Amino acid sequence: MQKTIRRGIEKIHLGHYPTPLERLENISRETSLNFYIKRDDLCGVVFGGNKVRKLEYLLAHAKARGFDTILTAGGAQSNHAVLTAACCKKLGLDALLLLKKRGVTETRGNLLLAGLMHIPVRFIDTDSYADVYAEAETIMEAMRGEGKNPWLIPVGGSVPLGALGYLDAAEEIASQAGELGFPVDHIVCCSGSGGTHAGLILGAKKMDARVTGIAVSVEEDFQAEIYKLALETAKLAGIETDIVLDDVVLKEYIGPGYARPSEEGEAAIRFMAEKEGIFLDPVYTGKTFAGFLDLLSKGFFAPGENVVFVHTGGGPALFAMYQ
Ligand SMILES: Cc1ncc(COP(=O)(O)O)c(C=O)c1O
Repeated sequence: MQKTIRRGIEKIHLGHYPTPLERLENISRETSLNFYIKRDDLCGVVFGGNKVRKLEYLLAHAKARGFDTILTAGGAQSNHAVLTAACCKKLGLDALLLLKKRGVTETRGNLLLAGLMHIPVRFIDTDSYADVYAEAETIMEAMRGEGKNPWLIPVGGSVPLGALGYLDAAEEIASQAGELGFPVDHIVCCSGSGGTHAGLILGAKKMDARVTGIAVSVEEDFQAEIYKLALETAKLAGIETDIVLDDVVLKEYIGPGYARPSEEGEAAIRFMAEKEGIFLDPVYTGKTFAGFLDLLSKGFFAPGENVVFVHTGGGPALFAMYQ
């Protein structure tokens, strides 16, 4: 596997980057914006997704320190968990997924993919990640007793090392927009565990673009948490930043709850599919696009603005949640 050092930090190449940045003509016409989409769903691992950029740093760290088994956590249909498992396969690492027994637990969508990769999955009947991490600690202790060297990646990989991946993504967007000849005014992304949003805010500051994160799950003090993560990421990257709390713009479009499809999200998925033949998902990107459309209707974007919508993946949930 090819490795590079970026800002003094090791990174293993797992995805195909740069991912395309394309102008969507029909959505641009419908919205009176210049609407671009950053296709991180096309990064070439599983059915794509934002976690791969984070895993390039996280798994390089794990390999360099001799960890041999990766544990990670998420919801029952976690994209992050399955992408982690697939990247571990590539790197010859063992993986174990700790998933909350909530939502679609049948062998569909991401759980079908985990099964095909022969990845062990443990369901934990809880709503709290504190319980999941306590269970992870018990499992890791047992693994150490068997001579293994396990490492836990927290939910969503939203730690400074992971968020570096989206600092890179922002720089990639800036360079592609430069080649295409437009200044980025606004980036819209999904904000789940916050790492994508934090990395993009840091990178966007340099290109003077605003970033709006659409929250799809209820998190306490989420804005402050993302801000802290962005500051810690800047420190890790060794970059100066003058971001302030107000740079973390969050709009909530959770609907009936995390991982529970909303009517608006479904309409947004259909709109994107009908206009552009591009597929969003019911948990993250569909709600994010729905949030974008609602904000647009409220005048949040000025006509003619250059907006980049980050497609963060999530396709397998379509097959888990719709029949
Ligand atoms: C498809 C998809 N989009 C967006 C997100 C949210 O990204 P983050 O956790 O970095 O906020 C996730 C997280 O799991 C995801 O799977």
